Amino acid sequence: MKDFKRTLITTALPYANGPVHIGHLAGVYVPADIYARYLRLQGREVLMIGGSDEHGVPITIKARNEGVTPQDIVDRYHKIIKDSFEEFGISFDVYGRTTSETHRKTASDFFRKLYDKGEFVEKTSMQLYDPEANQFLADRYVVGTCPHCGNEHAYGDQCEACGTSLNATDLINPKSAITGAEPVLRETKHYYLPLDKWQPDLEKWILEDHKEWKSNVYGQCKSWLDMGLQPRAVSRDLDWGIPVPVEGAEGKVLYVWFDAPIGYISNTIDLVGDDYTKWWKDPETRMLHFIGKDNIVFHCIVFPAMLMADGSYNLPDNVPANEFLNLEDDKISTSRNWAVWLHEYLRDFPGKQDVLRYVLTANAPETKDNNFTWRDFQARNNSELVAILGNFVNRAVVLTHKYFDGVLQAAVELTEAEEKLIAQVKELKKEMSEALDTFHFREALKLAMDMARAGNQYLQETEPWKVAKSDMTRTGTILNIAINLCANLSIAFEPFLPFMSEKLVKMLGGDKITWDMLGCFDLVPAGAHIGEAQLLFEKIEDSEVEAQVQKLLDTKKANEMKAWKPEPVKSECAFEDFEKVDIRVGRVLECCKVKKSKKLLQFLIDDGTGTPRTILSGIAQSYEDPSVLVGKEICFVANFAPRKMMGIESQGMIMSAVNPDGTLTVVGPTADVQPGASVG
Ligand code: MF3
Ligand code: ZN
Repeated sequence: MKDFKRTLITTALPYANGPVHIGHLAGVYVPADIYARYLRLQGREVLMIGGSDEHGVPITIKARNEGVTPQDIVDRYHKIIKDSFEEFGISFDVYGRTTSETHRKTASDFFRKLYDKGEFVEKTSMQLYDPEANQFLADRYVVGTCPHCGNEHAYGDQCEACGTSLNATDLINPKSAITGAEPVLRETKHYYLPLDKWQPDLEKWILEDHKEWKSNVYGQCKSWLDMGLQPRAVSRDLDWGIPVPVEGAEGKVLYVWFDAPIGYISNTIDLVGDDYTKWWKDPETRMLHFIGKDNIVFHCIVFPAMLMADGSYNLPDNVPANEFLNLEDDKISTSRNWAVWLHEYLRDFPGKQDVLRYVLTANAPETKDNNFTWRDFQARNNSELVAILGNFVNRAVVLTHKYFDGVLQAAVELTEAEEKLIAQVKELKKEMSEALDTFHFREALKLAMDMARAGNQYLQETEPWKVAKSDMTRTGTILNIAINLCANLSIAFEPFLPFMSEKLVKMLGGDKITWDMLGCFDLVPAGAHIGEAQLLFEKIEDSEVEAQVQKLLDTKKANEMKAWKPEPVKSECAFEDFEKVDIRVGRVLECCKVKKSKKLLQFLIDDGTGTPRTILSGIAQSYEDPSVLVGKEICFVANFAPRKMMGIESQGMIMSAVNPDGTLTVVGPTADVQPGASVG
């Protein structure tokens, strides 16, 4: 790899149309943060750019649903998202907004320069128009069937099932997302970026010069290039966005995917002013885009083509895109509320930001979609963070206090055990650096945890609590090494668990840490006063994760209810036929489960004749406690032929309603009715 002077890290700008969830954190922001922290520990010059994507249809749809303005929406969510990231220690150097004045100007100027250079093609064409809402439909305003994979919920700009980037007119059976209406075609003019013109340059740049990109990224790029690139419209007929800054474009705004990536530039300008050229145009700067897989085409094809068309910018050196994180085996979805929202996590697990960062990294969807489960969250906390890392640090610090009042003793003579440990730590550092340099963060985290494991093993082998009975010099040496290993852990884990690291550095009386210091065992000098042991991690109880699982089950249930539709009505039935069925009201005298049957309940019904009748009904699984039905008035069919089940004769059928989840509820009159009364 070329040796760059500095690194510009960009992170996908999330749409400010809702809060952020664990999928965002796992896919983009935690990996970017790990990398930025790692570079800063090495003393490298680095900027990490973030911000809100505040234009585009996702924002206006949300505003329309809530009956507020798009500005209200972005003001609300920009703040919520920014606060969540801050709480999780995502160390942006700047977190801007695409509704800022700097951005309006930067994006307008960018468009204008390309326009003046003749880089756009103006084309009048037929576009989808919603005749009920009186507006053109593009992007997420249209849903329909993807022509490539058949997904019926593809958007007008992209199919999330197969990742293909689409034009709204490509969709089969398009429907307006606003009114549900079938769109009509209407003529309009737009500005197109001729991606086909850049195809040869893009091919060389990606397929030849960047063979080192992750295979998921390289593969997606190759398949688009193989399909052949088409001109792409970069303007829209919408009233929310940055006005197209040329004459004759009234009522048109920049396409959100044209303006949003320019947000990376605007936010850099907001931070460093004119110095932004150093970060964007100096070939000694390395640019990296951290994104999720649904953003690959825009960052590897569309934005680079824009930058090539301008001609004065660097192209990204790498785009370490991640796959998706699922939640409890189901796709994370904002509309179905199937997510762990960061602001809710912070409320339910205050102070446990590092735990989530740890679990999301250990499970990061680096090469394939991955799954988050609350059980795994609990297990990783209890058996890794608490039992390995927390336990080792705690033992080292507590023993130093027990034997030496917290004063670190000199390491007098190193034995084989120390040599082995030190060699192990040096080797782990080397492997960690390799993993971090190549964006293999879960591997790097595993290696850091191996370092803590090595610490526990060392104490197990050297047994300072036994040695202390006879040899305090040796005990002092062991604890010196153990405490210095703690200092190493505070460095190795800093990119991953910054809150823990800071606490640990303070406990050891340290100050600044650097990556260079990792592997050294003179970080805490003899004579240093070690602070009291503080708990770094605490056990997560079953009840805490059960509450989270229950919350998801409730969500699932609510979604089922929302999605539920009554069965279609049966074919017509003559009144004479209906009259043949004799439905009566009855009062439940007794109701109990039939022995040895999972399904059957046995009812004794007062049917008004003076001789109660027995009816069996296959609804036992819907009534845990059948006695709740005793005394209730119900409806039953009185004239079915008697039928024997499990040796008992059933004289009729209890009527019940089918619920969305398949359970049954017995139905009856809405006020007191005499048992035996006919229903009809
Ligand atoms: N808002 C987009 C999304 O959430 C990402 C925009 S990234 C940028 O998918 F490059 F355009 F900023
Ligand atoms: Zn598709």
